Amino acid sequence: MSNDPLLQPYQLKHLTLKNRIMITSHEPAYPEDGMPTDRYRAYHVERAKAGVALTMTAGSASVSRDSPPVFNNILAWKDEVVGHMAKLAQECHDEGCAVMIQLTHLGRRTRWDKADWLPVVSPGHEREASHRAFPKKMEDWDIARIVEDYVQAAERMKAAGLDGLEIQAYGHLMDQFWSPLTNDLDGPYGGSLDNRLRFTFDVLRGIRERCGEDFLLGVRYTGDEDLPGGFDAKDGLEISRKLKDSGLVDFLNVVKGHIDTDAGLTDVIPVQGMRNAPHLDFAGEIRKATDFPTFHAAKIPDVATARHAIASGKLDMVGMTRAHIADPHLVRKIVEGREDDIRPCVGANYCLDRIYQGGMALCLHNPSTGREIEQPHMIAKADTPKRVTIVGAGPAGMEAARVAAERGHKVTVFEAADQPGGQIRLTALQERRREMSSIIAWRFDQCEKLGVTFNFNSFADEADVLATEPDVAIIATGGLPHTEVLTSGDDLVVSAWDILSGDMKPGSNVLIFDDAGDHAGLQAADIIAATGARVEIVTPDRAFAPEVMAMNLVPYMRSLQAKDTTFTVTWRLTDVQRDGNGLKAVLGSDYGGVTRTREVDQVIVNHGTRPLDDLYFDLKPKSVNLGEVDHEALVAGAAQKVATGPTDSFQLFRIGDAVAARNTHAAIYDALRLVRTV
Ligand SMILES: Cc1cc2nc3c(=O)[nH]c(=O)nc-3n(C[C@H](O)[C@H](O)[C@H](O)COP(=O)(O)O)c2cc1C
Ligand code: SF4
Repeated sequence: MSNDPLLQPYQLKHLTLKNRIMITSHEPAYPEDGMPTDRYRAYHVERAKAGVALTMTAGSASVSRDSPPVFNNILAWKDEVVGHMAKLAQECHDEGCAVMIQLTHLGRRTRWDKADWLPVVSPGHEREASHRAFPKKMEDWDIARIVEDYVQAAERMKAAGLDGLEIQAYGHLMDQFWSPLTNDLDGPYGGSLDNRLRFTFDVLRGIRERCGEDFLLGVRYTGDEDLPGGFDAKDGLEISRKLKDSGLVDFLNVVKGHIDTDAGLTDVIPVQGMRNAPHLDFAGEIRKATDFPTFHAAKIPDVATARHAIASGKLDMVGMTRAHIADPHLVRKIVEGREDDIRPCVGANYCLDRIYQGGMALCLHNPSTGREIEQPHMIAKADTPKRVTIVGAGPAGMEAARVAAERGHKVTVFEAADQPGGQIRLTALQERRREMSSIIAWRFDQCEKLGVTFNFNSFADEADVLATEPDVAIIATGGLPHTEVLTSGDDLVVSAWDILSGDMKPGSNVLIFDDAGDHAGLQAADIIAATGARVEIVTPDRAFAPEVMAMNLVPYMRSLQAKDTTFTVTWRLTDVQRDGNGLKAVLGSDYGGVTRTREVDQVIVNHGTRPLDDLYFDLKPKSVNLGEVDHEALVAGAAQKVATGPTDSFQLFRIGDAVAARNTHAAIYDALRLVRTV
């Protein structure tokens, strides 16, 4: 048996967990009508099969009607949930993986204009900045019915055969009672700490009484709100001790901080560029002080840090949640001594930011996650090996190369630059986004192991491609910034890429016109503002940088607001003119009838890219499919069979931004679903 600390079993009361790695609760927003159906089950079973010891399903599964989900969570207040959860639990149990669920009442952390339009409730009237609902202050009958709702939801989970559950406290109704900032009740549920904990213990006692001792019970909570007027680490320790001493819980699942704002949430769940394992020592302190089973997750993305968390005795179970979103087979790869093959989580937080925008959780660089059924994680070998030639080694080209090589094809890649990466290489030049480079580094490493031939510094033309005698040619040449959007003065502006690459020196008084709304605009702003320059970001949108999304925006705001930066929404740059030694920028508005001018010394335009597609169009007439993609076959996962061009020729496809400007996920998904059928 391995002596890896991560692979040692852990005895949690009567339940033996087969190793120390767990997936903490995270709602991927896959339910259908509030139920965990096939997509949901397949997602968990994939990870169970690969060896994770415990999967804490759901995330904020709702116990009450007046806790409507804000991002498509499981409705644990409905009886029909039992059948779905039973199936999920059974299939995970068959793989030796323990299954629990997180239950909650969101309290004020939701909205009244969802589902049944019931008033949002909380122990006080304070509204939460993120969700903006002014809550009704709870009455005695609200407390009584919600306690009963928790207990009934727990009974459903017990009936479904789960090993146990955790109550989500932090930021939700439970710790809205705990926090002096949100609990405005008088006794018996407001006032002293014991009074503020009374609701929690009513719930836990109710569940214990009705579900019994063999149904495991825990609480996921913050041990320090980290907010003026909130409860601090000392109170958090007191709460931890009281939870343990109650004899009502079997484990503690600790986080640190508060989640009522985007910034607070991002400190609890750090994104790329932020420190790894920032709250591990804090969780370790709670474990030490309580000597009680302690779980924790917060940006522990790599095996070495996870191993340290267990070996040092800071945790009993280490959560590697986004790490499992990125690579469901993480535990199997540890067991097989293939840690180098683990697809790294790069903290891009596409997964989490998407659910807050109403989408389902998708991994920026693993398009099979959440699509386990239609896009399996394992790539099947092709019946007949082919020659596949790929032009461009950005994310799309690198994924195409990896998947083609996994299929057993002979793969040749041409890349004009001296190394792979494309736009990712540019984005990762900024220290805060350095982790992005692992998207390419992992693929390059996989390709090298699979014997892909790379030709760098090779600006391939038609003859170069044809000389490889391809069966399939894939054009993944990406795009170039498109800045020609003005009525006049296009020649006076530079692109965000010019700043990122260092090709253009930042000015000292700069206007950035950003209507792409992606990372490039804000990265350019960050780099320019860091020189001490004055920066104004102008967008015609109602909010700036909409493609960056909430949690990804936090590090930018922290950096930009501390500098001389202003944000101007609903204005569109129309012209730029020379003005003495400087420039005059003219702003108009889509709402009409107004103009403004700005005197600056540099204007940046961030307006996405236009495809670099010359090579594709050169090759198109010679290809068997004339470049055509059968969308029905693509979506159904079937082979491409269009044959409208010359016979005995090669198939030609283009993918990623060489087709149209999109994002990294789209580029990689283009490659995966096309090439897995080649
Ligand atoms: C898509 C997604 C949804 C999440 N939803 C919840 C949730 O409902 N409840 C919760 O306690 N944590 C939730 N989390 C937080 C995770 O449980 C975990 O604490 C966080 O991802 C940090 O751990 P990691 O760095 O290992 O991913 C969510 C995380 C993700 C990525
Ligand atoms: S989207 Fe980013 S943070 Fe989320 S799992 Fe994928 S790599 Fe990790």
